[in-house]
Amino acid sequence: MSRRTLAVVSAGLSQPSSTRLLADQLAAATRDELTRAGVEVELRLVDLREHAHDVVNNLLTGFPSPALRQALDAVAGADGVVAVTPIFNGSYNGLFKSFFDVLDSGALVDRPVLIAATAGTARHSLALEHALRPMFAYLRAVVVPTAVFAAPEDWSGGTAEGALRARIVRAGGELADQVRRRPTAAPPDPFALTTSFDDLLAGRDRP
Ligand SMILES: Cc1cc2nc3c(=O)[nH]c(=O)nc-3n(C[C@H](O)[C@H](O)[C@H](O)COP(=O)(O)O)c2cc1C
Repeated sequence: MSRRTLAVVSAGLSQPSSTRLLADQLAAATRDELTRAGVEVELRLVDLREHAHDVVNNLLTGFPSPALRQALDAVAGADGVVAVTPIFNGSYNGLFKSFFDVLDSGALVDRPVLIAATAGTARHSLALEHALRPMFAYLRAVVVPTAVFAAPEDWSGGTAEGALRARIVRAGGELADQVRRRPTAAPPDPFALTTSFDDLLAGRDRP
């Protein structure tokens, strides 16, 4: 039986968090699909709420705390990523953006990513297409076609029903398919050079 890891990133701030609930359901749908295909799955949950202070400190100092390093490595070393944010002011929230800002550049190249969001109104569902998808395209990730958006009316007693459930299953299937086709991701090498010294000195160390 082959084995794959999935990182599940939730930027929800509330407790309990509808964003976390959606992330868990997407992870379960992806895992179920991979399991059916004979792939063993390890889920790595990254609740950004727990790393909020460390993410800001990393932005200011350039260095992650040990706990944040573990979370960043969980994402960088995963075979697939489920990335879910609440919509704030018509876009991803600041914590979600800042976490991916401190993730090592190149960490998501060719990595399958499923994007999803929760919000207070269905009117902002296109934030997935005008904010999240372009950000992951910039990071050169492979974003699966189905993005999942959940407005309050999509939840029924804390469970996803009807159209939302169908989208979760479809998106999970697409992520599972991409993850299964690729070789297992190599664990991140903390000592690997991500740029040449020439580029570093010339300030060309960012893509
Ligand atoms: C500062 C702030 C800004 C928000 N902006 C929007 C918005 O622009 N559009 C929207 O539909 N919901 C907006 N919301 C509502 C949240 O997206 C919604 O409550 C979300 O599902 C909360 O996720 P959580 O339960 O994981 O914390 C906003 C909430 C906050 C706190």
